[in-house]
Amino acid sequence: MNTAIRKQMTISPVIMDLLNNQIAMEMKASASYLAMASWCDQRELLNSKAQFYKQAEEEREHAMKIFTFINDNGGGAISPSVENVNNDFESLRGLYETSLDQEIAVTESIFNIFKSARKESDFTTEIFLQWFIEEQSEEEDKFRSILDVFDLMEGMPLKMIDERLPTE
Ligand code: FEO
Repeated sequence: MNTAIRKQMTISPVIMDLLNNQIAMEMKASASYLAMASWCDQRELLNSKAQFYKQAEEEREHAMKIFTFINDNGGGAISPSVENVNNDFESLRGLYETSLDQEIAVTESIFNIFKSARKESDFTTEIFLQWFIEEQSEEEDKFRSILDVFDLMEGMPLKMIDERLPTE
């Protein structure tokens, strides 16, 4: 692109690549939560169904936040392809364990970008990522609390456990 018409890039090119990878990660998470929502929907697990449909939307919103951030700062956001989404699950508890694992991986990835932004003196990205750090802390906390409910209600019927779980 002609530099005369291109907006000035206020984020580091190295960081832009990491952010584009993060968009792909968020979209993969969205697709994964959608698969989980479908699994719950088919089994009439209403609270978990609502939880995962909502989570799928939220992950897409996270991806879009990063997408627009890159373009608003003179970079080039890339629409990712999402492949190898697992639709095969064993148990409701397993869905929430996978969710927590996914969120921990996202948190690590955000921390890595944050550290790299600091190293590159990319202050714009560093400030932008603070919202994500808080969001990740809330998401991990939510899934840990849900897994605590499973521990407390061990042996109870699945639908009864589902009724005790939050919908968002
Ligand atoms: Fe956007 Fe839950 O990671």
